[in-house]
Amino acid sequence: MANKYLKRFNLKKFKALFRNKKLLVVFMALLTTLVISSATYALVNNNTEPEVVEVSEPTEQQEEPEVESEEEPPETPAPVELEPTPKPEPEPVSPWPVTFSLDQASSLTVVVNKKHKLPSNYVPSLTGVAGGQMRPEAASALNTMLQAAQNDGVPMKIISSYRSYPTQVSTYNKWVRIDGQAQADRSSARPGHSEHQTGLAVDLGVPNGNCDLLICFGSTAQGQWLATYAQKYGFIVRYESNTEAITGYQYEPWHMRYLGVSTATAVKNSGQTLDQYYGVEAGGY
Ligand code: DAL
Ligand code: ZN
Repeated sequence: MANKYLKRFNLKKFKALFRNKKLLVVFMALLTTLVISSATYALVNNNTEPEVVEVSEPTEQQEEPEVESEEEPPETPAPVELEPTPKPEPEPVSPWPVTFSLDQASSLTVVVNKKHKLPSNYVPSLTGVAGGQMRPEAASALNTMLQAAQNDGVPMKIISSYRSYPTQVSTYNKWVRIDGQAQADRSSARPGHSEHQTGLAVDLGVPNGNCDLLICFGSTAQGQWLATYAQKYGFIVRYESNTEAITGYQYEPWHMRYLGVSTATAVKNSGQTLDQYYGVEAGGY
């Protein structure tokens, strides 16, 4: 087929056709127009796409940063960076140098006796009571108990409550001077060995001073009331009669020890000393 058309194509006729200058000019004009149109189309197509992209991208970039700039500020404060900051937590430190079952000096049921001594620098948290200071729990219970006794027609006074270690030094030394060390050790604890340092012990008396710190206090209305009801308010008579061989101290019907109602009631009902109740070694130094 191709040869057939080539044979029909007469080169001489073609050349003759272009001897006509008018036709040649028209042909060249058409050819030039075709070339220019093709080039223009190509340029337009090449330029249009980038222009569309370039126009649209900046528009999006300008809008996005505005949105991001509005969202970023709340993130910028970054509380997240502050969260990892460790909060210092106070480490519990036991001031108690002796290891046994009730070895926390600040425990409401701590056992203090001639075998178990408090650290000389131990000072409990304290609040004021009439004439002295006590642990807040004990002070509150004491006030309730004294009010109850008052309501029963048995008013009492506070003789002695919290005693610091230095106070114990002077108190013990005073009794040693008065009675000698052997007798002093039956009635006065050596420094660090007194329950009064816990802030949980209190000596009570008759308002008129009758039988203050004497065994006869046990026979007064006040002594009898305490022996009967003290545990209802969380206290026990710490040094009962006929327990000196166990506790190392003479009978002290005036010395109240706070334990909390449940423990005080249990100790009272057990008929034992606090040392026996907890199975803690007691007796002499
Ligand atoms: N009177 C008691 C034993 C004390 O001194 O703590
Ligand atoms: Zn006492």
